[in-house]
Amino acid sequence: MEKEGEMQPVYLITGGAGNLACQLTFPLAARGIRCVLLDVAAEPVAPVAEGCQYVRGDVTNAEDMKTVFRDYEPRVVVHFASLLSAASEADRPAAWELNANGAFALLEMALAHRVDRFFFPSSLAAYGGALPDLISDHQVQWPDGMYGVTKTTVERLGVYYARRHGLDFRGLRLPIVVSRYAHLGAASSYASRAFMETAQSGKFVFQVRPESRPALIYTRDVIDAVVLLLEAPAAKLRQCVYNIQALSPTAEELAAAIRTHYPDASLTFQTDERIADLIDSWPRRFDDSAARKDWNWKSTYDLAAMAADFATTLATA
Ligand SMILES: NC(=O)c1ccc[n+]([C@@H]2O[C@H](COP(=O)([O-])OP(=O)(O)OC[C@H]3O[C@@H](n4cnc5c(N)ncnc54)[C@H](O)[C@@H]3O)[C@@H](O)[C@H]2O)c1
Repeated sequence: MEKEGEMQPVYLITGGAGNLACQLTFPLAARGIRCVLLDVAAEPVAPVAEGCQYVRGDVTNAEDMKTVFRDYEPRVVVHFASLLSAASEADRPAAWELNANGAFALLEMALAHRVDRFFFPSSLAAYGGALPDLISDHQVQWPDGMYGVTKTTVERLGVYYARRHGLDFRGLRLPIVVSRYAHLGAASSYASRAFMETAQSGKFVFQVRPESRPALIYTRDVIDAVVLLLEAPAAKLRQCVYNIQALSPTAEELAAAIRTHYPDASLTFQTDERIADLIDSWPRRFDDSAARKDWNWKSTYDLAAMAADFATTLATA
């Protein structure tokens, strides 16, 4: 592999073909950062910024990882590669291998190469059991699903590497991301699918309950949050992993916001108890006061702003 632009700082983004990775390349490239996108997929799911390097590779393959570190010498690792919730439940060994063992190997590699920073996206699924309406950063984490178990595991590993070995590990527990590039197989993609199917066919059937209201976040807010946290001075950060809050509409309120842009659409409910129970077991609202205080987090997209932006994006796609 050829080395180019050696003066630019290099960020290695695993899961580099995915939803969040592709979108993150734009603000990073605008800051003069060179993104190396590593993924097992043949190609990215979405456009990426000019100047990115796409590398086909597997996080769980030690040779692939050695090669990418040797060839690109990344200063920052953004570790997005993961099986998501449904896939993790369907194949527990594969989930543990990628989400837990893969992260462990990458943390070791990051430490050996003395990277400046390691970013990890945890999830609202890192919480489970009986939960209060408002989740603080100090809420005990007893995840119910395999995906959440692996997310909590990596949070703990990251804090270990930070405290014991001085690795600058930073993480966010993300609410459900609403995005036109969302993995549509996931139960949690209902909000994204509601927009996309309504725009495409004029109808959508929600499988959650009208009153279901897990914490959501618009994809543009996620990207802003990742960049803000990556850029925050280490001295300002009082913890490694932060909860962030954006919006918590009921599915009925979400349907109403979508209808504002598609007045003739049919948005109805046929609750699937299994899916609804899973969604309703996740946090509804996060107390994100630490994120606001330490690195100036503030959500820009409320429900109306998200609906307007999503509808405009789909209309111009
Ligand atoms: N989208 C959400 O709602 C949400 C919420 C909370 C946390 N997260 C986390 O954010 C991260 C990114 O999510 P996303 O929405 O972009 O998911 P995504 O599914 O679009 O991207 C994940 C990528 O990882 C890749 N991948 C799978 N196995 C790999 C391997 N062995 N080696 C390298 N790459 C591999 C996939 O091909 C895919 O492109 C994930 O860690 C996810 O758990 C997402």
